[in-house]
Amino acid sequence: MDGEPAKRGQEEESSVSAHDTTEPTRRDFLYVATGTAAAVGAGAVAWPFIDQMRPDASTLALASIEVDVSSIEPGMSVTAKWRGKPVFIRNRTPEEIEAAKEVPLSELKDPVARNANLPSDAPATDVDRSAGEGKENWLVMVGVCTHLGCIPLGQQGDFGGWFCPCHGSHYDTAGRVRKGPAPENMAVPTFEFISDTVVRIG
Ligand code: FES
Repeated sequence: MDGEPAKRGQEEESSVSAHDTTEPTRRDFLYVATGTAAAVGAGAVAWPFIDQMRPDASTLALASIEVDVSSIEPGMSVTAKWRGKPVFIRNRTPEEIEAAKEVPLSELKDPVARNANLPSDAPATDVDRSAGEGKENWLVMVGVCTHLGCIPLGQQGDFGGWFCPCHGSHYDTAGRVRKGPAPENMAVPTFEFISDTVVRIG
């Protein structure tokens, strides 16, 4: 007799977990992606959560994410995940911006901005790599090395930007390749600030 309530409890538990494993709908995923805006400061929490809710490929291709950047102080970065890729969002210091501005375009290995928000032939000036006039401190880019796709390490390398340890590519503080086998600057995805503190990527 004593076993009865316990058994019922077990049944209730298993029905809850069966419900939890139901395939997420597209609406579920968008909700999660939006919810990530608040949680992205704690990136380690946000990533596995989105992974777990990963929808099918067609939904993934459409998805955009919104990231609250209000807690990213100058000199700090977060990594968000968008369409299965890491996206670096860095609040650059005035020194980092200045260092990137001082580099003549003629010294760049890849003189093209690679910024999806600009014409394909826009030059890789510092401002064209950033979020633009008045928001030059923000750098948003796909954190994938353009050589063979490793994820570069931040605030490392000969130019104080990113360093890819796989084969030794160095990127500067505007994410432009300066040395090593990578052929192109890291890609800037389509993005926009939808408020002073929230950026929508995709
Ligand atoms: S993948 Fe980055 S240098 Fe080769």
